[in-house]
Amino acid sequence: MPDFPKPGILFYDITTLLKDAAAFRALTDDLTARYQDARIDKVVGIESRGFIFGGVLAGRLGAGFVPVRKPGKLPADCFEVKYSLEYGSNTLAIHRDAIGSGERVLIVDDLLATGGTAEATISLVRQLGGDVVGLDFLVELKGLKGREKLAGYPVHSTILYS
Ligand code: PRP
Ligand code: MG
Repeated sequence: MPDFPKPGILFYDITTLLKDAAAFRALTDDLTARYQDARIDKVVGIESRGFIFGGVLAGRLGAGFVPVRKPGKLPADCFEVKYSLEYGSNTLAIHRDAIGSGERVLIVDDLLATGGTAEATISLVRQLGGDVVGLDFLVELKGLKGREKLAGYPVHSTILYS
C-alpha cells in the first residue's frame, strides 16, 4: 500500500494473510517447528504486530510471552531504550522483571526493515541478562540491510523482498 501511513512509505499489509485461516495456521506451524527444540524460555513480541505471532508462538512452545512496547504503555518498572530513525527517534520499553538472567529469548516481529527496532529490542533483553538465541520476522526488506545491525544473532525471515 503506497503512501501509508505517511507519504513516501510503502506499507506491507499482513492482514490479508492473518484473516486466511489456512495461511495463518501454516505460518504458525512453520514458526513452531523452527523453534520446537530451541529450549526457548521467553518469546519477546515487539509492539504491535509482533504480538500476533509472538503470542501464538509462545503458547505453542510452552514459553512465556513478553511484550516490548512504546513508552507509557507498560504499568510496572521498565527499562527503556531510545533509538534513531531516518528522521527523529523512537523509544521502546520492557518490564524490568520480564526476563531472568540467562533465560533463552526469541524475538519476534512482523517486519525487519532498517533493523533499528530489532537492535533496540536486543539491547533491552540483554540489559535484563537474557540470552537472545534468535530473531524471527515474517517479512524482511533486504535492501534496507537491517540484518547487518543484527550481526552475530541468528535471523530468520519467511518472506524476503529485495
Ligand atoms: C514497524 C514494523 C517493525 C518496524 C521495523 O513498526 O512493525 O516493528 O517498523 O522497522 P525497522 O526495522 O526500520 O526498525 P512500527 O514502528 O511502524 O510500529 P507498529 O508495529 O506499532 O505499527
Ligand atoms: Mg512494529
